[in-house]
Amino acid sequence: MRDLISIKDLSVKEVEEIFTLTDALKKNPAKYANVLKGKTLALIFQKPSNRTRVSFQVGMYQLGGNCIYLRPDEINLGVRESIKDVAMTLSRYVDAIVLRTFEHKNVLELAENSDKPVINGLSDSSHPCQALADVYTAKEKFKKIKGVKLAYVGDGNNVCNSLLYTCAKAGMDMSVGCPKGYEPLVFTDAKDLARGKCNLSLFNTAQEAVKDADVIYTDVWASMGQEAEAQDRKKIFQSFQVNAKLVGLAKKGALIMHCLPAHRGEEITDEVIDSKNSVVFDEAENRMHVQKAVLIKLLGAKK
Ligand code: CP
Ligand code: NVA
Repeated sequence: MRDLISIKDLSVKEVEEIFTLTDALKKNPAKYANVLKGKTLALIFQKPSNRTRVSFQVGMYQLGGNCIYLRPDEINLGVRESIKDVAMTLSRYVDAIVLRTFEHKNVLELAENSDKPVINGLSDSSHPCQALADVYTAKEKFKKIKGVKLAYVGDGNNVCNSLLYTCAKAGMDMSVGCPKGYEPLVFTDAKDLARGKCNLSLFNTAQEAVKDADVIYTDVWASMGQEAEAQDRKKIFQSFQVNAKLVGLAKKGALIMHCLPAHRGEEITDEVIDSKNSVVFDEAENRMHVQKAVLIKLLGAKK
């Protein structure tokens, strides 16, 4: 494991190792308090963030390392200087770089030119750290992966793409329900990867997707960068709202997940996100634990 750009690049074994190390980190955080001592992580963010920035920063601190946050107007990636020059400069100073950006090719270009590991902190097509934390959370709650079915309802976006690849690698069943024209781009590719291991399915209604689901997952209808489409999308996605009626069609007691931030009253109702089966803040917390495992693996520190 050289970088974390897409879950597609990870082997099944690497995904399992991340989950095992996450378990160990949660059980005995003190044991890992100094494993990244003297290491520095740069965080380049071209979009806003709460969870990703804070969980990386606190996680790195808990491992004995240090972080430098570079806000959009500060580094001005690709405008003030080329992505290549930023990568070649930062690799001389820091031990790893997290990039949150728009076009996915920016993460690839940064990684190609960086001597140090690059972690995708969200691009328009993928959000690998999120999906690792989500599948880990489901595994933690059900104490298994095989036979668990996650239903993703809404936009076939970056989070959905990464969930498909993570489910394919980890062996969790996943169904997607999204409007026509908003299907996840990687569905066929992920289904090929999942062959013989787990079942991935795609529907154009929310009702079909949530049938027999153990987990119902949703995300915003308009992602960062799609603000101009938000009004049109509200109409298009209306029947994909995760509300009590939809939850009633899944397995009894199905867990509710959302990567957050949530637009309450749009893709999910207050009643559902605040219900006793909602695990959205456990997911948010697990972002930090899973990312600590990723950092340890990428920075090659001794356990
Ligand atoms: N889920 C997630 O990535 O949240 P932020 O956008 O707040 O980082
Ligand atoms: N799909 C959302 C995820 C936010 C964590 C976005 O890209 O804005």
